[in-house]
Amino acid sequence: MTKSPIALTNSRYRLGYHVAAPTGWINDPNGFCYFKGYYHIFYQHHPYSAEWGPMHWGHARSKDLVHWESLPIGLEPGSPEDKDGCFSGSAIVKDDIMYLFYTGHHYYNDGDPDHFWQNQNMAYSEDGIHFTKYENNPIIDKEPEDNTHHYRDPKVWEHEGTYYMILGSQENDGLGRAILYASQDLKSWDYLGSVSKATDLKGEGFMWECPDFFHLDGKDILLLSPQGIDPQEEKYLNLYQTGYFVGEMDYQTAKFTRGEFHELDKGHDFYATQTTLAPDGRRIVFGWMAMWESHMPEKEDGWAGALTLPRELRLKDGKLVMTPVKELEALRVDEGKTETLTVSDATLIAKDASHAEILFSLPTTDATLTFKDAQEQDILSLVYTAETNKFVLRRNDTDEARYGTIQANDTLKYHLFIDTSSVEIFINDGETVFTERYYSESKPAVYLTTANETSVESTVYQLKAD
Ligand code: FRU
Repeated sequence: MTKSPIALTNSRYRLGYHVAAPTGWINDPNGFCYFKGYYHIFYQHHPYSAEWGPMHWGHARSKDLVHWESLPIGLEPGSPEDKDGCFSGSAIVKDDIMYLFYTGHHYYNDGDPDHFWQNQNMAYSEDGIHFTKYENNPIIDKEPEDNTHHYRDPKVWEHEGTYYMILGSQENDGLGRAILYASQDLKSWDYLGSVSKATDLKGEGFMWECPDFFHLDGKDILLLSPQGIDPQEEKYLNLYQTGYFVGEMDYQTAKFTRGEFHELDKGHDFYATQTTLAPDGRRIVFGWMAMWESHMPEKEDGWAGALTLPRELRLKDGKLVMTPVKELEALRVDEGKTETLTVSDATLIAKDASHAEILFSLPTTDATLTFKDAQEQDILSLVYTAETNKFVLRRNDTDEARYGTIQANDTLKYHLFIDTSSVEIFINDGETVFTERYYSESKPAVYLTTANETSVESTVYQLKAD
């Protein structure tokens, strides 16, 4: 009997312009690349329920990073080399062929879900739609001797004529690390060792998932999703973190010298990022707009999870900043409404803002942004305190706040993208970003309150809603 994908039973939380599966579960973005005139994005996907299950690679493509066309599933598990799942990985284009690299997941089937093993595999495509698993899979059959069974999420890139593959892993001593392989032909791979490792368990984690590695603005960046970092007062508050190290890679010794770990996004719903280079040289990132073990009310409706908007990454004063890609202007369906508002008490910026882009700026002062439902109840609030340069984000469905800071500045600039049940808030050109899912039966009204009477320049655009 052929299985059918789960049905969508209610579209109340469906997103209008984000990448999501037609139905079913998704997690990490995978295989992000530019191939024959299209951006391709894949995602960890379980089509048969709204829960995580045997992982497939769902697939979409776009000419402009804005309008996405859903394509047939790219990879299905079940071959001997990926019996229990095609886990996360990446893509690279060589000689007009798209190559996918992914982790094969295998259970020992003894009833313990943590008793598994993992290998690395390849698939390829000439049309970017149909994929053939490489006949000599696996390309790497097992982890190095000094590694545990946590061994996954290959990201492949080319540097000076050699291909490199970085993998997330855990050393036998229980610390997270990223390990490196090299290849001349994408098929046979030599182990080069650990490029970077957690300095301590609670500070840097027990397993580094989804590593990505790239050169940006004169530095090398290791972007990754460590598990097991201990929460601190206002940092590392999600179950797992996504963040980065800035440093220098020595390709001769395969060692990455780096600084501290920094979180990339301060919201509740951001994980497992992946980047690619746009044809014009921009470094673009997608994240999974959710978190493991979060409550996802859309599961009742036959789906779960989505990707963030594509964002451009830059390095500024030693930190990564993220801004929505400029192509997203094509989402606007009207000319925009621009106003100069005099704000002190709660002032309406936008009503019925279920698919909206909102930009506003003001001279720096204490400021509170609020989303309210039809009953005037808060859905979400973001409180800024000028004295400490700190933002506190609260959501009505959790007691756990999230925190972000910016450098002292004369102006506060907000850039929001709202999409039915998500909001991405970019502050001061991406210095701090909050990514959030929210669940409300009514379209939010957006208000701003300031400590003193303040002149606020605001522009609101309605965005594409399907
Ligand atoms: C990260 C992750 C990856 C793994 C995938 C499985 O969210 O745990 O390490 O490959 O999800 O779906």
